[in-house]
Amino acid sequence: MQIIQDISLVKSLCRSLKQEGSLGFVPTMGYLHEGHLSLVKQSVKENPNTVVSIFVNPSQFGPNEDLATYPRDLERDAGLLKECGAGYVFTPTAQTMYPDGFDTWVVPDKLASVLCGKSRPGHFRGVATIVLKLINITAADHMYMGLKDYQQLRILKQMVIDLHLDCEIVACPIVRESDGLAMSSRNSYLNPSERKQALSLYHGLLKARELFEQGERDCGRIIETIKKSIQDSGGRIDYIECVNPLSLQSVQEAEADTRMMLAVYFGKTRLIDNMALKA
Ligand code: PAF
Repeated sequence: MQIIQDISLVKSLCRSLKQEGSLGFVPTMGYLHEGHLSLVKQSVKENPNTVVSIFVNPSQFGPNEDLATYPRDLERDAGLLKECGAGYVFTPTAQTMYPDGFDTWVVPDKLASVLCGKSRPGHFRGVATIVLKLINITAADHMYMGLKDYQQLRILKQMVIDLHLDCEIVACPIVRESDGLAMSSRNSYLNPSERKQALSLYHGLLKARELFEQGERDCGRIIETIKKSIQDSGGRIDYIECVNPLSLQSVQEAEADTRMMLAVYFGKTRLIDNMALKA
């Protein structure tokens, strides 16, 4: 497996890999877990070559967020990627991705004005900009992303359409720990008691699904159920919303594809999760 830092090297490598067939790409910020690896494995299965990027993107962190402490372990990540059969890892530096004079941003609009976009101003501008740069650098045919970051996925799918990019985004299922907690690099921040509390996210979402199965269609009551489960555990809610899966706008009347979206703090750690009302 090759680890490459240099942008022009990876650019020319990707162009030559594309002569062998489709190029799969998995963008990550490293500290890989089974969720990331499931994306890599799917890409390896579906494309003759797969490139994974590891880059903790400074522009998607707010001033009081965890950029400095975001977990990093390139050696361990490289070992895991090798086991999954990824051939190439792109690890650019912040200076090469954002050199002095950098001045051009991708600013998603409506889809980024709700949910995490409201709580984390500028976050999706950073995400969309870096992902467009990575797509341009790799010229990937297929980019694999997890449904756990549902809003991110929706924004980037829209970006691909709006900017006429020749890259198909492949949405992959949320990977959960055996007890149901959605995998996230930030789970490593949780102490044992926060880790237990965090299970209320999954349990709350499942209870809401049950309610829907029993015929409840009022989103207010569905949200109350999730809220109770999380508040009883000691979590501090940032938001819980039922949204239209495409527009991400809040809805009052629940339908099978309505997406429950939430962000909750356990201690200082902010976790997100989501689920459709019907499996
Ligand atoms: O989901 C992530 O890890 C990041 O937001 C991404 C897509 C790699 C962009 O930095």
